[in-house]
Amino acid sequence: MLVTHRDDVLAGGASSPVRAGRRVGGDPFVCARGEGPYAYDAAGRRYVDYVMAYGPLLFGHTPSFLSDLDALAARGVVYGSTNPDEPALAGRIHAHVPSMRKLRFTTTGSEAVQSALRVARAFTGRDAIVKFAGNYHGHFDLALQDAGASAETGDAARSGIPPGAVAGMAVARYNDLDDVDRQLARAGDRLAAILVEPVCANMGLVEAVPGFLAGLRERADRRGALLIFDEIITWPRLGLGGAQARAGVVPDLTTIGKVMGGGFPIAAFGGRSDVMAVLAPDGPCFTGGTHAGMPFAAALALRVLDHLETRPELYAAMERHARALADGIRTTLRALELDYAVVQLESIVDFKFRPGPPTRSYDDQGRADQRAFAAFYHAMRERGILLPPSHNEVMFVSTAHGDAEIELTVAAIDASLRSLRARGVI
Ligand SMILES: Cc1ncc(COP(=O)(O)O)c(C=O)c1O
Repeated sequence: MLVTHRDDVLAGGASSPVRAGRRVGGDPFVCARGEGPYAYDAAGRRYVDYVMAYGPLLFGHTPSFLSDLDALAARGVVYGSTNPDEPALAGRIHAHVPSMRKLRFTTTGSEAVQSALRVARAFTGRDAIVKFAGNYHGHFDLALQDAGASAETGDAARSGIPPGAVAGMAVARYNDLDDVDRQLARAGDRLAAILVEPVCANMGLVEAVPGFLAGLRERADRRGALLIFDEIITWPRLGLGGAQARAGVVPDLTTIGKVMGGGFPIAAFGGRSDVMAVLAPDGPCFTGGTHAGMPFAAALALRVLDHLETRPELYAAMERHARALADGIRTTLRALELDYAVVQLESIVDFKFRPGPPTRSYDDQGRADQRAFAAFYHAMRERGILLPPSHNEVMFVSTAHGDAEIELTVAAIDASLRSLRARGVI
């Protein structure tokens, strides 16, 4: 049989919609190869990459611990049995994130959050969930209401998500405890859990204001409900203790993913022993998966922890580079008299085309100028810098980004913003 290549068979041109680049227009970026901090297109052109696969690549595209994968694969990559690396990995994660007393592995972050919500409902015997506009938790039904990142379910009636599936869901404004109280009142005594990104990186980079997370903790406790932190972007990007260690607020359940597999798909959910005891085979709540906790990915996750535990200086270097990037952006904005807030937390950097204080909620984010961002995206790409093609996303710095890449980027940002000014875009 003759096999012909067709480039119109991939639905929507991408396996995840943001990659199609519709938010910024133009030809979508097609990555043919990655190396260190660089992405290469099919023509071999090199770009400093700040997409970093939307978070997983804390060590860039080709970290040294990915060098002898043949040996790892030679053990077999998936068994369908528990393997020794799984409990070892669970124990190592627990040592860093003590609130994850018991945990279970999944393949993707979406599954981890979906599982955590089911566990919360099984444990409490209730069904209502309060989540936050602009937070993103994956592509399952419940998570997509008012979600940030690239979630596009605007036309709810045609989105394929039945109203019944989201009937128990209330969506509150991030950083607004008064609105949380309004949504909690709607949920009443049906509240199973409050689900939140403790630092949100899906409507730009948005930190919780002081007292917000503690306020959620106190409200969940008062109602006998659970607090779930989605740390799929933040652990271990913000440090081995994650966002919860920084905030000093302890959730009942936590979800992690992205960075933990060093680029391979593995994620987890976990928390209090009494809560996780609802899981089958001990309890009535089923979660599982063919590739969940597969030995190949679990071994890589152990390597990620080895790397971070033995080289704490990596965090300091990323922070220094991210700060230099943020300072460089601020210098150009000042020169152009643009009052946009530049935010940086550890290795995450972000600014939006909106004057005034940093984004606090999805309402703020809705006021950013998307047209200006699209022009900026293309101006940067022309200059060899790759940004995520959506203004809801952020710039991820990795351990592979060095002074040279940051200098190139700062220069490109300066030139790009000046070209936008000259064209009257900003
Ligand atoms: C905070 C957060 N939670 C969950 C997810 C879903 O993870 P995955 O894409 O691995 O299903 C994402 C993905 O971007 C995320 O940013």
